[in-house]
Amino acid sequence: MAETLIYTQNYDELLVQIEHVTAGEKDLIANLANIAAILKDCFNHHWVGFYLVKEDDLVLGPFQGPMACTRIKFGKGVCGKAWENKQTMLVNNVHEFPGHIACSALSNSEIVVPVLVQGKVVMVLDIDSLHLHHFSNQDKMGLEKIAQFISSLCYTSS
Ligand code: SME
Repeated sequence: MAETLIYTQNYDELLVQIEHVTAGEKDLIANLANIAAILKDCFNHHWVGFYLVKEDDLVLGPFQGPMACTRIKFGKGVCGKAWENKQTMLVNNVHEFPGHIACSALSNSEIVVPVLVQGKVVMVLDIDSLHLHHFSNQDKMGLEKIAQFISSLCYTSS
């Protein structure tokens, strides 16, 4: 467990920190909670959290930020589309995204990264920003590396 958080926006450094914080903890929810906290603290995003695939729904998991909707159907909203497409959804202006689910009226852009285990989406990492066009391709690549690490955690977690 890290003693102190290094406030970095460099994804390689963040990943090292996430690896350190999650080392030795087998509980997936506990690890996801700390990953959400690290991403929120380092970037000051409006909302950072996970939706976990449970049967036909994405169900709200560990998050940081304002309260959010608890269930999202396959293919619905940005999160459901990331689940359906098995691909990152980077939305520069959520108000122009057909079917966007507005959990917070303050969100203006969003990135959703799926976490795959053996080719199946098991959860999505969802990040909302107050700013339009907030997320870059660099964010996409960095968050996808974190999603790959989370996938590896799923194999060793309880
Ligand atoms: N906006 C998301 C819903 C989840 S909240 O942003 C936390 C969507 O359209 O799927």
